[in-house]
Amino acid sequence: MPGTTDRGGITLEGISRVFGGGIVAVDQIDLAIRPGEFFTLLGPSGCGKTTLLRMIAGFETPDSGRIVISGREMQTVPPHRRAVNTVFQSYALFPHLNVAENIGFGLRMRGIARAERKFRTDQIMALLQIDDFATRNPAQLSGGQRQRVALARALVNEPEVVLLDEPLSALDAKLRAELQVELMRMQKRLGMTFIFVTHDQQEALVMSDRIAVMERGRLLQVGPVLDVYEQPRSVFVAEFLGLSNIWPITPAPGNTADTPLGRLTIVTPIGNERTAMIRPEKIWIYNDTAAPLDRPNIFRGTVREAIYMGASTQYRVELHDGSIVLALDTNNQAAERSWQPGEAVALEIKPENIILIDG
Ligand SMILES: Nc1ncnc2c1ncn2[C@@H]1O[C@H](COP(=O)(O)OP(=O)(O)OP(=O)(O)O)[C@@H](O)[C@H]1O
Ligand SMILES: [Mg+2]
Repeated sequence: MPGTTDRGGITLEGISRVFGGGIVAVDQIDLAIRPGEFFTLLGPSGCGKTTLLRMIAGFETPDSGRIVISGREMQTVPPHRRAVNTVFQSYALFPHLNVAENIGFGLRMRGIARAERKFRTDQIMALLQIDDFATRNPAQLSGGQRQRVALARALVNEPEVVLLDEPLSALDAKLRAELQVELMRMQKRLGMTFIFVTHDQQEALVMSDRIAVMERGRLLQVGPVLDVYEQPRSVFVAEFLGLSNIWPITPAPGNTADTPLGRLTIVTPIGNERTAMIRPEKIWIYNDTAAPLDRPNIFRGTVREAIYMGASTQYRVELHDGSIVLALDTNNQAAERSWQPGEAVALEIKPENIILIDG
């Protein structure tokens, strides 16, 4: 039977949405999301994330392309007939229903018996720590509480696909971290497909199977978290996802390239690549006197800024030519001794840690 093997799978082919005045919100997106996958969309404000979710949910009609959910063409299927629940960026709760009624609404519409409805509503409220507010109306809740009600209302239906538009943005750090774990567990346990939008790159890295970095309506790079972070294919992706050092490069003899820092040894001769990137945590920092001078790519400089971040310290080091390098060092000593501004240090940029980027 067609479709049954792809329950929860989503295929987008050539999806575009152009708003009045020629605003191209979503531009020719092709994407296949696997059943049960935790897929995250990351990108700057206005890049088209919400518009893309709204088209998958059926609240917005694409100007071109096709959407297939669970093996079924969605062109003529209205939102309430799609196997999709959405947690909107704006929450969109029913103002005249209390918390428990908001959450149980979808179950009631589907004719689920009262006892079962109560059981499932209670369970999800406990999980999201909103059981104390069950009889309050949305107007009597804080932003973070409302956000959790919106989340509960989508998840209680256990749909094949859940679209989540920044569902944790209004929560404090501790609750946010707790709910990240709960959400991941629930998603894996029930085998739901999640399309998750966030501005928070750390959250994206922690939670996702795959991520897509979006810019101006297009997907710049799609892949497993590790690939996109470790092997960004553009400067935009490198800079959007984490901290990076980025230098223009020109070819030099053998396995070397010229950069503003000086000549860098790299793993293979460069081809079309014109940019080198290295993550700060992949740069080694030494006392100036302890630099391993027998190795390539040792650069001397002076610490200009040291930001203590608990588990690690981030350094801004100025090299003798004036260029600035970011380096991150793990605070793995019993009583951490870190370098202070003004101290002389040496940096090692290992060739195998340098990523070359086209253009
Ligand atoms: N109904 C609309 N009419 C006209 N333009 C719109 C409409 N909805 C969105 N846009 C525009 O489309 C672009 C994409 O908007 P969208 O809401 O999808 O961005 P987003 O990535 O979700 O941003 P954010 O991170 O700020 O939520 C923006 O330029 C926005 O101004
Ligand atoms: Mg949005």
